[in-house]
Amino acid sequence: MNKKELCEKAVKAMQNAYVPYSGFKVGAALVCSDGTVFTGCNIENASFTPTVCAERTAVFKAVSEGRRDFTMIAVCGGKDGKINGMFPPCGVCRQVLAEFCPPDFPVILVTGKNEFRELKLCELLPFSFNPGYMSG
Ligand code: THU
Repeated sequence: MNKKELCEKAVKAMQNAYVPYSGFKVGAALVCSDGTVFTGCNIENASFTPTVCAERTAVFKAVSEGRRDFTMIAVCGGKDGKINGMFPPCGVCRQVLAEFCPPDFPVILVTGKNEFRELKLCELLPFSFNPGYMSG
């Protein structure tokens, strides 16, 4: 699974976004060490608070299937599904990634057709509170 293919999977997953309130569609594609990909989209709710982001949908799908061996994630998003530059994951999703992924974990941000920018998780979430602090 190369990075371009992973971006394409994120873009495809974005099409399933359920966004009747914001119209802002997000897709994510998370790869495991054996190449298995878990995708996710954002799913909104009339009560707003239960809304879940695309990145967390992908992570929770994978973890609930027994997978935690993640190697990279691609994320894309835009109003009405139109990708127009970089869309960085929200703070809550960064924190969820920090639970399962190392500081140098690659986060691939789709910026346009066949374009992406790559950041490390530690660049998106420096000084993270991570599981290491809980082990005493
Ligand atoms: N959203 C995501 O799916 N991922 C993020 O990292 C930030 C925001 C979604 C939540 C909501 O459905 C819409 O984008 C607007 O905030």
